[in-house]
Amino acid sequence: MREHPSSRIDFRSDTVTQPTTVMRQAMHEASVGDDVLGDDPTVIELQDRVAAMFGKEAGLFVASGTMSNAIALRTHTVPGDEIVCDKTAHIYRYEGGGYAALCGASIALVDGEGGLMTPEQVRSAVRKAEGSGSHYPNGSLVCVENTSNLGGGSCYDQTTLDDIAKVAASLGCATHIDGARIFNAAIATGVDVARMCQHYDSVSICFSKGLGAPVGSVLVGSSAFIAKAHRWRKLFGGGWRQAGLLASACLHALDHHVDRLQDDHERAQRIAVMLNDLPEFNVDLATVQTNMVYANTNRPAAEVVEQYAANGVDMFDLSDNRIRVVVHLHITDEDVERFTDISQRLFG
Ligand SMILES: Cc1ncc(COP(=O)(O)O)c(C=O)c1O
Repeated sequence: MREHPSSRIDFRSDTVTQPTTVMRQAMHEASVGDDVLGDDPTVIELQDRVAAMFGKEAGLFVASGTMSNAIALRTHTVPGDEIVCDKTAHIYRYEGGGYAALCGASIALVDGEGGLMTPEQVRSAVRKAEGSGSHYPNGSLVCVENTSNLGGGSCYDQTTLDDIAKVAASLGCATHIDGARIFNAAIATGVDVARMCQHYDSVSICFSKGLGAPVGSVLVGSSAFIAKAHRWRKLFGGGWRQAGLLASACLHALDHHVDRLQDDHERAQRIAVMLNDLPEFNVDLATVQTNMVYANTNRPAAEVVEQYAANGVDMFDLSDNRIRVVVHLHITDEDVERFTDISQRLFG
């Protein structure tokens, strides 16, 4: 059933989803406490459940993916450190320079392919202070993003993920996964999230993207890491009280919105093929692995977006000649058919 409270088709992001009626019911019925005092039972249940799912000792419920990444980066680093990530990483592009402002760290960018780095690229990007005559910053953290947003929802294969973690460990670096859409990666690759993240020190998991909760991310890692992260959450103003209301939506999402991500991926595939068949667009079909479709346009992308908007379809242009379509909980088969009709009429 289409639960989106609008007749428009909203492909701008998987963050636009609104809590479904049954999710709201779960929130209504949630037991709550004071999470700053550590006694909100629903927050505790969510943190424990997510930590166990990911094979880690502990979890911390926080307000957003950005906050979760910022806390992780701050917990792993000290000022003067350097963080290695792909040039398209969300932590570098879209988190307000938190790595610099909140951590006092610099970033070493890797020129990955489709948002994905290789172990060799990571090895050559890590600069250690030791042995440099104090010239270099101290490369101390490697971050991967899985799926990669700007990579078009691309996924790491497990061998590459494992090898990057091995390289990082051999260089004395901690490892963090920005797993805003990690369940999309798990569904697409068939690899269980605990196995996927086995060799990583921390993982940030978002519930307000494909999983359809209104708010929230969980950061997982060792008990010692999460104990330190808890302090940084407080310092960043992220200590919250009856957060169980929000945690209950995340628990509901874990029960009901993980397996259905496969539907989003199938719809994204159909959209990719449909757009690629039109003379206006060019889609690299091999890059469409999860719930996103990046299409190159012949005319200016802003014009394409405008024409779609005038016909009840919303999406973003990501550059002068590229649009992005994101499939999520509120996109139905009927929406895909309507989008196909509109696309063929406008651009066929
Ligand atoms: C890969 C990735 N990481 C982190 C975030 C940040 O999440 P939030 O918007 O909840 O701060 C996003 C948001 O879209 C994202 O795409």
